[in-house]
Amino acid sequence: MLNIVIFGAPGSGKGTQSAKMKEKYGLEHLSTGEILRSEIKADTELGRLADSYMSKGLLVPDELVIDILNGLIGRQGDVKGFIFDGFPRTLAQGEALGRMLKRHGGDVHAVVSLEVDEEELIDRLLKRGRISGRKDDNRETVESRLKVYRAQTEPLKEYYRTRGLLKNIEGTGSVDGIFASIEKEIDRLVK
Ligand code: AP5
Repeated sequence: MLNIVIFGAPGSGKGTQSAKMKEKYGLEHLSTGEILRSEIKADTELGRLADSYMSKGLLVPDELVIDILNGLIGRQGDVKGFIFDGFPRTLAQGEALGRMLKRHGGDVHAVVSLEVDEEELIDRLLKRGRISGRKDDNRETVESRLKVYRAQTEPLKEYYRTRGLLKNIEGTGSVDGIFASIEKEIDRLVK
């Protein structure tokens, strides 16, 4: 099993690059943001609770997202592996992911971190907000998401760097060019 974490700030291209990784390597794509948005759309209790955090650009509590992921990993049958997109986002989630995968005889094999400067991130997200109308793509919420990323999520880079798993990828430029850099890292793991 090959398990890749795709890591980066809001708007760094995690979803875009995950789609390409899924297509090339046949991995299951698990995006906690997408899962939570579909709960909001279905107006479930979990969705309403998640929305109260997401609309402010705050993280949904660890125990909720860890439970969701745990259930999803447990329900997957015979898969080639996973792309974790938007998870982990805190140290507690990182540790939980390690434990979950271990229970299934697996591990995290690489953490692909997309590096994009803040001005470009804000540009991308506000642009998407104007087109798709994603509720959290407005200036105030984007600023909050970036602040939360720096305070709660970025420290995970050190956690993975010390474990030799962090792969920093330049996340600016063409989508295909960025994917070519990711492929170089992953191809080394699958050979
Ligand atoms: P989530 O859905 O994970 O959002 P995010 O991390 O803020 O990331 P985005 O989806 O906005 O961006 P992305 O990096 O995937 O980039 P994308 O490819 O879309 O989380 C949303 C919220 O859910 C969180 O704020 C939190 O509240 C909650 N949540 C989720 N997971 C959680 C967890 N584990 N714990 C607690 N709470 C959690 O691209 C962005 C835009 O840029 C697109 O328009 C795209 O077309 C464009 N783009 C992509 N690549 C390029 C390129 N190379 N050049 C130019 N434009 C590009």
